[in-house]
Amino acid sequence: PRSIFFSRHGESQYNVEGKIGGDSLLSPRGMEYAKALPALITDNIGDQPLTDLKYTKLTWKSLDELDAGVCDGMTYEEIEQAYPDDFANRDEDKFNYRYRGGESYRDVVVRLEPVIMELERQENILIIGHQAILRCLYAYFHHLPQDDLPYIKIPLHTVIKLTPKAYGCDEERYALPI
Ligand code: F6P
Repeated sequence: PRSIFFSRHGESQYNVEGKIGGDSLLSPRGMEYAKALPALITDNIGDQPLTDLKYTKLTWKSLDELDAGVCDGMTYEEIEQAYPDDFANRDEDKFNYRYRGGESYRDVVVRLEPVIMELERQENILIIGHQAILRCLYAYFHHLPQDDLPYIKIPLHTVIKLTPKAYGCDEERYALPI
């Protein structure tokens, strides 16, 4: 059976500083993970070598992180101070809350529809993505409800392997202690 592998990008400088969004550089730990990832994939994962992919690499704009609009680059504390009502509204309905000038999780789910169509057609594939994006993809393959989706834990420095079955998906996780 074919599998879909997910991993967040290595820890970013923004992750370290608690800032959201942005196109931040990787932290030293994040760089270490990026370097260790190919071996983790080829040596340790299952009986389906990812060489099936022939290592073709694609970069998809539709995998950009949830756009936090005016809050891009801020910490959660800064957002709460600057936009207290927004902060409360997001807590109230995280799936539907749309950042000012940005996106909601619902928007991202819609944006990801073509990606999901493509994933359904692919053989083994590894997606390196952002947290909110991987939450949406993970929820799709596990049929998780919308209300739970924005709270799914997708840890850093961990590869999640999903193998679709007739009903649902098998899952394995491989964490690197970086
Ligand atoms: O902090 C990393 C990050 O990927 C941000 O870029 C993004 O806004 C956030 O996580 C999404 O998580 P949440 O929806 O829980 O704020």
